[in-house]
Amino acid sequence: MDLLRRPRRNRKSETVRQMVQETQISTSNLIFPIFLIEGNNKKEEVPSMPGIYRYSQDLLYKEIEECMELGVKSFDVFPSLSEDKKDKMATEGANPEGIYIKTLAGIKERFPESCLMTDVAMDPYSSDGHDGIVENGEILNDETLEVLGKMAVVQAQAGADIIGPSDMMDGRVEFIRQSLDDAGFTKTSIMSYTAKYASAYYGPFRDALDSAPKFGDKKTYQMDPANRKEALLEAELDFAEGADFLMVKPALAYLDIIRDLKNNFEIPISAYNVSGEYAMVKAAAEKGWLDGEKIMLETLMSMRRAGADVILTYHAKEFAQWVKKHR
Ligand code: PBG
Repeated sequence: MDLLRRPRRNRKSETVRQMVQETQISTSNLIFPIFLIEGNNKKEEVPSMPGIYRYSQDLLYKEIEECMELGVKSFDVFPSLSEDKKDKMATEGANPEGIYIKTLAGIKERFPESCLMTDVAMDPYSSDGHDGIVENGEILNDETLEVLGKMAVVQAQAGADIIGPSDMMDGRVEFIRQSLDDAGFTKTSIMSYTAKYASAYYGPFRDALDSAPKFGDKKTYQMDPANRKEALLEAELDFAEGADFLMVKPALAYLDIIRDLKNNFEIPISAYNVSGEYAMVKAAAEKGWLDGEKIMLETLMSMRRAGADVILTYHAKEFAQWVKKHR
């Protein structure tokens, strides 16, 4: 054959392949979501997330220390609370003496160089299991903003570096930005869950936190998986309202949305590789149907290639261990 273009020439050796590799992924791109429970000396594996645990405060510090040594330095902490701490107004979410806020402060004190992200939403603290105030079966928007603003300020006081509103109420980025600024926290960033879809991929997470809605679903605030332009609208609003990062969630089934945001906005884009995506990989690997390690690497790479600057992933520690083993 008389071929002028032979793309295989650029694949001929490992060294050449590495030379022309278009996308890289590094541990520093990853944020590790981590689950906190009440009590002491507790480490419980989440049944649908092999390798992922819910830690009491003392053991959570230990886990963070191990991660830091591996180069995982960014964490997103989620609390799992007993039913008696929950109420309609998610009061516990803004309790400076509560386990969540105390632990955030403890992490920052022990690991000042870590980057600490927090979750702003009512569901872990809400007796209704929803991300907003519920009245007569409806999720109230504007009234919920007050609750979110208070949560964000208390988290910032505890030392949070990045506030992560995961609630999908309208106007929350602006409201939270204003609340933070009014309290003097102009340096605290906001990573908005911009395009958060009403997804069945959150199942294992809701098991881990026991945070499933007590009635109905989240479709009046989380987005319809069928919609793409709506993600651009959400992104325009969050950008205009002052978000520092725009997030797409879930990630794997929404790579097109990640690319859309990457092409249209000048701030970092993040992707949340959610609990159900992690569970699928682990389940198939346990059965011996897929090579779990290779799938992890390919999956994270696909998100970077789609345009994610930052990835929130339960694979963060495992990825860092892989890097260590292969250097
Ligand atoms: C809730 C919240 C959810 C996740 C992060 N924050 C679940 C939900 O919206 O019901 C899901 C994360 C995951 O599945 O890994 N505010």
